[in-house]
Amino acid sequence: MTMQGCVVAVLCAAYLVISFGEVQKQEESEDYDYDYAYLPKNCSVSESIAGGWVSYSEGGAAGSTLTYHCEEGHYPFPVSQRVCSTEGEWSTMRLANGRTVAQATCKEVLCPAQLQLDNGEFWPREQWFRSGETQEFSCQDGFTLYGSAVRNCTPWGEWTGTTPVCDDQVDDCMNPGTPPGALRSGDHFRVGEKVQYRCHMGLDLLGSSERVCLESREWSGSDARCLAQFAFDSPNMVAQAMAGSLAGVMDVTSPEFKKKVSFGRSIRPGEGRLNVFILLDNSGSISEKHFLEARKAIEGLIRKLDSYEVNLKYEIISYASQARNIVSIVDPESHNADYVLHELREFKRTDHGTKRGTNLYAALHMVYASMAFLKESKESKFNETQNVILIVTDGQSNTGKSPKNALMRIRALLDLKDSLDHTHENLLDVYVFGVGSEVRKKELNEIASKKQKEKHIFILEKFKDLGEVFDEMISDSAVTMCGIAQESVKKSKENTRPWNVEITTMIMGKMENCKGSIVTQNWIMTAAHCFNETAVTHPKTVTVKHGKHEVKTAVSVILHPQYNVRGLRHKNVKEFYDYDIALIKLNQSIQVSGASRPICLPCTKPASSALKMGPESTCEQHKKALFHLEETQAHFLTKNYERKQTHIQTGAKRLECIKHAAVTFSPETTVSLTEVVTDRFLCTGGSQSYKDAVTCKGDSGGSLFLRKRQRYLQGGCSKLGQQGCVLQTIKDT
Ligand SMILES: *[C@@H]1O[C@H](CO)[C@@H](O)[C@H](O)[C@H]1NC(C)=O
Ligand SMILES: *[C@@H]1O[C@H](CO)[C@@H](O)[C@H](O)[C@H]1NC(C)=O
Ligand SMILES: *[C@@H]1O[C@H](CO)[C@@H](O)[C@H](O)[C@H]1NC(C)=O
Ligand SMILES: *[C@@H]1O[C@H](CO)[C@@H](O)[C@H](O)[C@H]1NC(C)=O
Repeated sequence: MTMQGCVVAVLCAAYLVISFGEVQKQEESEDYDYDYAYLPKNCSVSESIAGGWVSYSEGGAAGSTLTYHCEEGHYPFPVSQRVCSTEGEWSTMRLANGRTVAQATCKEVLCPAQLQLDNGEFWPREQWFRSGETQEFSCQDGFTLYGSAVRNCTPWGEWTGTTPVCDDQVDDCMNPGTPPGALRSGDHFRVGEKVQYRCHMGLDLLGSSERVCLESREWSGSDARCLAQFAFDSPNMVAQAMAGSLAGVMDVTSPEFKKKVSFGRSIRPGEGRLNVFILLDNSGSISEKHFLEARKAIEGLIRKLDSYEVNLKYEIISYASQARNIVSIVDPESHNADYVLHELREFKRTDHGTKRGTNLYAALHMVYASMAFLKESKESKFNETQNVILIVTDGQSNTGKSPKNALMRIRALLDLKDSLDHTHENLLDVYVFGVGSEVRKKELNEIASKKQKEKHIFILEKFKDLGEVFDEMISDSAVTMCGIAQESVKKSKENTRPWNVEITTMIMGKMENCKGSIVTQNWIMTAAHCFNETAVTHPKTVTVKHGKHEVKTAVSVILHPQYNVRGLRHKNVKEFYDYDIALIKLNQSIQVSGASRPICLPCTKPASSALKMGPESTCEQHKKALFHLEETQAHFLTKNYERKQTHIQTGAKRLECIKHAAVTFSPETTVSLTEVVTDRFLCTGGSQSYKDAVTCKGDSGGSLFLRKRQRYLQGGCSKLGQQGCVLQTIKDT
């Protein structure tokens, strides 16, 4: 008996040593090489998950991954991914307590409950809520409720609205509240006093775990929140949060739209210089598909950022066991988005070789080195430049030193005090996007900036969500610039054409429809032929629909004074469309949002900004920039709001294009072509090389728009299409 006991003990010890050694190897070794003497076996590809489905990255080959998928509102338990070992076994699934689980299941996503509300009541009092359920809050007498009185649990496991707080304005700082799933210690809110947060078991804390009431009577750091291991931030929430900070930094208001939105941070005048460092995880756990999705999202982000009126420079770093520069900020071309995008596309993942650990430290150190170089070079205005570091990671492992060390050096370089909080760090923003269920939230939370009323760390479910976030965040209502639209049609169609309006006029008791475009918050531009005198004398009969079913009425309709449809009747031209342009003044300003915003009008200051041409640029320069080729791609919307492509013909090609229009002339006419199709017309489509879309009835007055650097500018107004050739009257003023 004793002998047996002894043997067991020795075996256990040996086992412990071996497994410890393995852990060490995983953490330290920089490569996962599968160079074994025997052929690796494949794993089974007939795995299942109760209530969901399974996908395989490389047909179950050794080293590949299996992913569990569940319906919306559900998550795979206990893991979402497994890795195939060289023995042909999928990695073991374990619970938090170490017990193994043979079969994965889809579980319902739940919202953690509000557990604490000082001086208030909340009900129902449960630990977890299901999607669709609500929790309600109220305050005791003498206390005012800030935040939401009712919150709904969403399928993402996050609540709608904001954390409820009952406050009586007696203390220096306001009651900092307690987010759902958390408990707070510290009940005194005078200057210098601290509060601490911890999350309920199974939840990870993001944001500041400790906050101090500052002299300014604000709390240091950012709001804490508790995220369940299985829960992710919805792309929508992330986009909104980003719009409030990154987009806020970037938004330079056009002169027409005086800043009405405040972003919780001030933009110093004359600023508008930004260094963007993008750190892309390329470790072994990131599949080719995920890399391509992340790259696509970053391409989208760069194009979007490039549309802002800010001086930008980029650095893109791919990191695995080592960091590699895709583009360095010290490169003279680092401000050129086309160059940056080209370099990004050329980058091969295989450049990292087989060393596929995750060395975030190395990547951040590379950022530090670049910043140090910029600081040395005198003319870079380094001390006035905002530095934004965006980290995209699946956060599975970490080789190398602690990323925090590298950040400390960056902070020192920027002369930022390395205090407990980074509440007022004007020159540095560190955003972290953790993707997937394996991210180490705690570690990433330590790296992300913590600023008042802002979020810098986000946990997304899929790499694909990144693209959605970057597309959405900039057309959010926080951004007031003209000519911005969402590119993807997936969500709300309005956001892909926010300048578009529907105009309804009553002519002889009959409704007539036209389209127009928002050119300022109070003015709509459309075609003059949409109206007759009745509209001009009775503007109230004209209604304008914009955004999501919002309606305004006209207070005046102004046709171009030289517009005269009968102007060439004496020459047998029935309808003459020179100066076919009209303006409608609205009874009320349009509130700028993702679904309603002006298009940029060439020859205006906002258009100068959109074209990055400086405020002094002339109308002629705008024209050159927009039509420097003989054929310019342009778009218009069909009756069903599909974006159709056409081509504006200029120079020699214009004449050819116009000739096609002549086909529609009445045989009795005695006019020359250039008399009817004056210089104020743009000619689209019609050339031999394209069979361009033709505008149809109902499109009249809509904009013909051009896209430059993700910004949209109006080219002209649509006229009825005829015989494959569409004529547009160009803006004349
Ligand atoms: C393993 O899977 C890969 C990819 O499906 C396949 O090409 C290979 O032949 C398989 N190997 C074995 C030993 O079955
Ligand atoms: C930045 O540095 C320059 C030159 O050293 C100095 O003139 C300027 O005032 C500094 N700007 C700020 C915002 O500190
Ligand atoms: C306005 O339009 C209607 C219908 O097209 C037409 O009958 C009417 O004569 C027009 N009014 C004027 C003043 O042109
Ligand atoms: C403007 O017109 C719309 C639509 O007719 C109406 O709902 C709104 O109340 C009007 N606003 C003002 C300020 O008159």
